[in-house]
Amino acid sequence: MDHASIIDGCRLSYAEVRKFRHNDMADLERILKENRDRKKLIAVDGVFSMEGDIINLPDVVALAKKYNARIMVDDAHGIGVLGGTGRGTAEHFGLEKEVDLIMGTYSKSLASIGGFIAGDAEVIHYIKHFARALIFSASPPPSSIAAVSAAIDIIEDEPERIEKLWKNTRKMFNGLKSLGFELGPTETPIIPILVGDDLMAFKMTMLLQQEGVFANVVVSPAVPSGKALIRTSYMATHTDEHLDKVLSAFEKTGRALGLISD
Ligand SMILES: Cc1ncc(COP(=O)(O)O)c(C=O)c1O
Repeated sequence: MDHASIIDGCRLSYAEVRKFRHNDMADLERILKENRDRKKLIAVDGVFSMEGDIINLPDVVALAKKYNARIMVDDAHGIGVLGGTGRGTAEHFGLEKEVDLIMGTYSKSLASIGGFIAGDAEVIHYIKHFARALIFSASPPPSSIAAVSAAIDIIEDEPERIEKLWKNTRKMFNGLKSLGFELGPTETPIIPILVGDDLMAFKMTMLLQQEGVFANVVVSPAVPSGKALIRTSYMATHTDEHLDKVLSAFEKTGRALGLISD
């Protein structure tokens, strides 16, 4: 369930890539043990982008210490959402000092485009001089950086927005669950509705659109084939009125397609 950009990044690193099963710490330990004497970087999503579950970071950190590995977290969906002040997955678990690299995109809670990577100055210096994708692309435009800077000020100064986001998340999780939809392992404002069949997922999103509701349809290769889902994600600015409209649309379309019953 890793985001495609992690897979591509691993390929571009020219390192040998070993994959462990989804959030499975025994499997991660097996691989670390097999590579005990080598240099290792564990690359994980903070929040998994399709199903909204969170990496078991405390155990990843413990294993990294035990087997002398470094850790990189792609926190695209954690920044602005998790942690007491919205600093993401590492803050959520109180592990900011234990994670070597935190990478994020500006395209989620920061409402812009581009991304960042944060770590020790020496490592960042190295990346600046060896990362081809960085060296051979244009810099982000000042307007998008200004938007990110303003978004960070808002996250810091208006913590009530994060509270509202979680209130909206709880409302939608409970609402969709009580309608009878299968929601998977989500723990965050990304709430997937598991559908299974690709065609059914496409039909459902089309019907939702007719009801005035936009949701992402997610099929293979973004998820394993046969595990198509409709991905909904919520914002602090959604009102109860918006959310009730979404719930009614899901109820109507889910019943029409036989995904839920009375
Ligand atoms: C986990 C994760 N990492 C990276 C990205 C890439 O973000 P962007 O499209 O802003 O480059 C995404 C976006 O979908 C994501 O979900």
